[in-house]
Amino acid sequence: MSHHLIFPSILTADFLHLEQEIKMVNGSDADLLHLDIMDGVFVPNLTFGFPVIRQIKTVSEKPLDVHLMIVDPDRYLEAYRDAGADWLTVHYETCPHLHRTIQQIAELGMKPAVSINPHTEVSLLEPILKDLNMVLVMTVNPGFGGQSFIEGSWEKIRKLREMITQTGSDAMIQVDGGVTEENIDALKEAGVDVFVVGNTVFSAKDPVQMISKLKNRN
Ligand code: DX5
Ligand code: ZN
Repeated sequence: MSHHLIFPSILTADFLHLEQEIKMVNGSDADLLHLDIMDGVFVPNLTFGFPVIRQIKTVSEKPLDVHLMIVDPDRYLEAYRDAGADWLTVHYETCPHLHRTIQQIAELGMKPAVSINPHTEVSLLEPILKDLNMVLVMTVNPGFGGQSFIEGSWEKIRKLREMITQTGSDAMIQVDGGVTEENIDALKEAGVDVFVVGNTVFSAKDPVQMISKLKNRN
């Protein structure tokens, strides 16, 4: 019996056949579909915008978890909701009024999450932990798929798990970057609830089977 969640990230999917890739995820044990939005400013890469999200929404049977790696996300919260986001993650490093941003995401009917870069200390999130559906601990520097897991993340995950217990928050812990068949069990043990998985799924010979393997441990 497994309680953790698997969110495939389409960053390394085949964009010429995106509909097939999403239908593959529909037919898998995945829980949500993770979409990486990059602006070429906050991170050194660009991905896709609202028209693509809207089209993905028409095909995806899984709710959409939208990870914003963009500066000044406040300008677009409603537009992401309208495009189809069910869960919305903003980066701590991009929000000077984070508490307000989180309230607005929730008021728009989405589940709010906050992400921290590898250099950002988890204790900074303590004042808002109770308002969050999820905390995303970046386990690579955001911007690209297929990077290696940063080892310093273990300590952050354990600290965050303690903070969540102490504050009585319901926030889930999500990790994103470098998740593999080799490290998923130990990450779960350390307290992770939600796994974003890009390369491990989309470069697998049988992605549906890989999602099932990652979901159904033991
Ligand atoms: C990186 C993205 C990730 C990425 C993870 O900036 O946020 O969602 O797709 O990819 P893998 O699993 O390949 O490290
Ligand atoms: Zn992501």
